[in-house]
Amino acid sequence: MLDAQSLDTIFRRARTHNAIAGAVSDAQLRELYDLMKWGPTASNTQPGRILFVRSREAKEKLRPALSPGNLDKTMAAPVTAIIAHDLMFYENLPRTFPHRPDAINAFKGEEKKAGNENTAFRNGTLQGAYFIIAARALGLDCGPMSGFDNAKVDAAFFPDGRWKSNFLVNIGKGDPAKVMPRNPRLTFEEACRIE
Ligand SMILES: Cc1cc2nc3c(=O)[nH]c(=O)nc-3n(C[C@H](O)[C@H](O)[C@H](O)COP(=O)(O)O)c2cc1C
Repeated sequence: MLDAQSLDTIFRRARTHNAIAGAVSDAQLRELYDLMKWGPTASNTQPGRILFVRSREAKEKLRPALSPGNLDKTMAAPVTAIIAHDLMFYENLPRTFPHRPDAINAFKGEEKKAGNENTAFRNGTLQGAYFIIAARALGLDCGPMSGFDNAKVDAAFFPDGRWKSNFLVNIGKGDPAKVMPRNPRLTFEEACRIE
């Protein structure tokens, strides 16, 4: 089991940041991916994809899609990760799930499209959560956001339609003075049942 300080870092004292500055290097982005990639996905499908928006040009491409409340803080953050998923994720299965050579057949064909979107969204979202936990474990603060126009992001960054955006995460060094008051979480009794 992790020690109390580690649990504080990734959960109990970790906050959603609204003012994120600093710099994030390529090496840190690689370290982050190399940690989060170990989180599990159905049949090891790994549909999650990440576009790290870091350059000024890329940030300007993102700007028109951002909701007003998310605009300034996102433009100011050193990196904004677009957490996305690949609708053709199953192409990798012969390599990533080799002990079931027929696994790819469960996803091939026009009639499988809706189910594939479901698989990509569910597992891509899980990978987005692994992303946040991994970033915090590595000392990066996060500001996740769904307040943006997904269609605009997809048109600007993923015009071939293969990757679909899910949510955004600003990462970098957060200013603890600019976080909102901590809001309560549901109790075990409210959120859980044991049967
Ligand atoms: C998927 C997701 C989408 C969110 N969207 C936004 C957003 O668009 N704008 C914003 O300011 N905060 C957004 N938040 C931040 C949440 O309001 C925040 O994480 C929550 O209130 C818990 O805050 P805490 O982690 O500081 O306790 C989002 C968080 C998540 C996980």
